[in-house]
Amino acid sequence: MSQNAKQTAADRQNRAPLAEALLQHIREDVTPFHVPAHKHGKGTDELTRYFGQQVMSMDINSMSDVDDLANPNAVIDEAQRLTAELFGAQYAHFLINGTTSGIHAMMISRLRPGDRIILPRNAHKSAFSGLVASGAVPVYARVEDNTDFGIATTVSVDSISSCFERAPQTAALFIINPTYYGFASDLQRLIALAREWDASVLVDEAHGGHMYFHDELPVTAMQSGADMSAVSMHKTCGSLTQSSLLLLNSKAISNEKVINTLNMFRSTSASYLLMASLDLARKQLAMEGRERIKAVVELARYAREKINQIEGLHAFGQELTSNSAIHSFDETKLSIFVRKLGATGFEIERRLRQEYNIQVELADLNVIMAMITIGDTQADVDRLIAALEKIASRSRKQNFTRVSQMPDMPDLIVIPRDAFYSHQKSVALEDSVNEISGEMVMSYPPGIPVICPGERITRDIIDYINILKEHNCHLQGTADPFVNNIRVLGF
Ligand SMILES: Cc1ncc(COP(=O)(O)O)c(C=O)c1O
Repeated sequence: MSQNAKQTAADRQNRAPLAEALLQHIREDVTPFHVPAHKHGKGTDELTRYFGQQVMSMDINSMSDVDDLANPNAVIDEAQRLTAELFGAQYAHFLINGTTSGIHAMMISRLRPGDRIILPRNAHKSAFSGLVASGAVPVYARVEDNTDFGIATTVSVDSISSCFERAPQTAALFIINPTYYGFASDLQRLIALAREWDASVLVDEAHGGHMYFHDELPVTAMQSGADMSAVSMHKTCGSLTQSSLLLLNSKAISNEKVINTLNMFRSTSASYLLMASLDLARKQLAMEGRERIKAVVELARYAREKINQIEGLHAFGQELTSNSAIHSFDETKLSIFVRKLGATGFEIERRLRQEYNIQVELADLNVIMAMITIGDTQADVDRLIAALEKIASRSRKQNFTRVSQMPDMPDLIVIPRDAFYSHQKSVALEDSVNEISGEMVMSYPPGIPVICPGERITRDIIDYINILKEHNCHLQGTADPFVNNIRVLGF
């Protein structure tokens, strides 16, 4: 790019058209005879004192000067174009219901009922509800787990390749980049593989937005030539909670289809607070993103090094990339294996909160994870390190015994959509052998569902769920929180 062209791109990116229009709107002090009813906070005294006048004044509905997300042709359109330019996409869409809605939109706009989609078994629950909504047939890919830490990592190229061989006419491949714990597969090879089989590639980048701004973090969906990606800007890039992006760069999926899909499900009253936050977060990333994310990575490296000097703790990272499905690692996810302290991740999470006023992002039986982002300082990280040092010094170190191996993936008897719409009844888990599950049983760890809707329950599955319960694993997905009962298909 020439110096002049670069200058123009920087000038363009140094604006926030939607956020600026919103500010101008409140300066004009328009008399509002429109929803929302609070009318710039004038009708809601306590609420306005609580949030502050500016927030209430900015909470407006669409009108010509601030555009309309359903049919953008002014400042929202401009803001979305700038976002697409920055992330290397052809189109970008603002999402006001998180990456969850982006995953639904990717699946529904690409898949027709009966189409096949390959997806990792450890996909987020929105991918499973996307299967119900789209009527697609899942081809689940096996996820590797790391036996040292007892956690699910990611899918290998071989595992995806064997899925394509099993299901040659597959419409799409769904990939998580990176997983919650920071593991990334070899995205470029997976995309090349999908192209050989004529499949589109849909990527869940809920945890990967910041990776667009650092060359040593895992390579991103748009850089690698994926068709679509859903990115939680709120998780790693500084916009408000619930605001995400849908990025599109595809020959197979038209932008019109994506817009139609988004408009089918999203609110017709999109929050301007969320959208303006996306616009400002994008501007900040464009202007300072590389420096900011560099500082984040350096802070994470510093923390990892210090924590790895504490006896009984292990903050795992890049070293896991050799000889495994893990191609690269997002170092900003500070995942720490704690079981050698003789405590679970849940216990360490509770102690950090109660004794040191520190809240981590995630805890499971074996691991806690602290997210390092643009909002962290050296002092914050030092507090975490000091707290972990104290906790470790007072612990009795123990060897770690891992939960036994997960049984083979069960047979899919009916597709998730049919399971969802079938009659279901609750039966005792012990009596459910050979029944078709109406629910998912998800366990943390390892973060992989043991059974999904539409699959046949086997004796091995029940035995494994009982083992997970004995180990106090965190089980989710069933109506019965104790998983003594499970919903199965039938009257
Ligand atoms: C892997 C993954 N995908 C998707 C999502 C959904 O993202 P959002 O909370 O932005 O809807 C999450 C949320 O935690 C996630 O962990």
